[in-house]
Amino acid sequence: MRTQQIGQGHSSPARAAKPDNVLQTAERSGRGGVMWSRTAATLLLLLWVEHVAAQGLSRQEAYRRAAELTALGQAIFVDPSLSASGKLACASCHSPAHAFGPPNDLAVQLGGADMRQAGVRAVPSLKYLNTDPQFTEHFFDSDDEADESIDNGPTGGMTWDGRADRGRDQARLPLLSPYEMANASAADVAARVARSPYAHDLPALFGVGVFSDPERVFGAVTTALEAYEEDPIFYP
Ligand code: HEC
Repeated sequence: MRTQQIGQGHSSPARAAKPDNVLQTAERSGRGGVMWSRTAATLLLLLWVEHVAAQGLSRQEAYRRAAELTALGQAIFVDPSLSASGKLACASCHSPAHAFGPPNDLAVQLGGADMRQAGVRAVPSLKYLNTDPQFTEHFFDSDDEADESIDNGPTGGMTWDGRADRGRDQARLPLLSPYEMANASAADVAARVARSPYAHDLPALFGVGVFSDPERVFGAVTTALEAYEEDPIFYP
């Protein structure tokens, strides 16, 4: 998924020179309004492309950002201070030493602000999530029958009922669930992140103003968790 977002380098002199060339061509042509508006439209398009390209990342930058996001996601994953109880991290239920599944034989885990609220579902392992297709009501792909016209029914998505398609959407659930990490709101999560040892990593990755908006901090947390869940450690 990340590789699709990787852009090309954006500092080639040929590309940088394009807008000027267009302008010179237009000046030399000296023809009427139609030519000018067409040239202006071309110029605007080129400027827009340059603008978008400027926001993209070179391959090397994209890899570095992915590595930094993954490291941040890992720090968040094992941090119990992001829960209302101060005792429950993602890793408490999805233990890295137990294939990212529960570290005990309880049917459901305890959580909540007082650590006495029972969850209602068994904790799944987080391995091989990348092989999970997005949720669909009708999944036409049969390994067994080699017949793709067979409807295998509802398939894919995250959680037992597939109600989240991406790690970043799923991660909102345990952070806000009263049975799990029990934050009351995004602002609650953001306040805890601001006190964490990795708080200073967020502005470089998500913008200097990130802490001015709790939703942005919450988005940063879930994005980093999603990146971590794509780490090869989940697909040995
Ligand atoms: C109190 C235990 C608990 C904690 C803490 C917890 N989870 Fe979970 N997790 C669960 C349970 C239970 C499910 C299944 C939920 C469902 O089906 O609705 C689940 C499901 C998931 C899934 C979907 C897996 C799949 O195969 O579909 C992911 C991804 C996940 N959790 C990541 C996280 C992350 C990231 C955190 C920390 C922000 C976290 N969990 C914290 C118990 C927990």
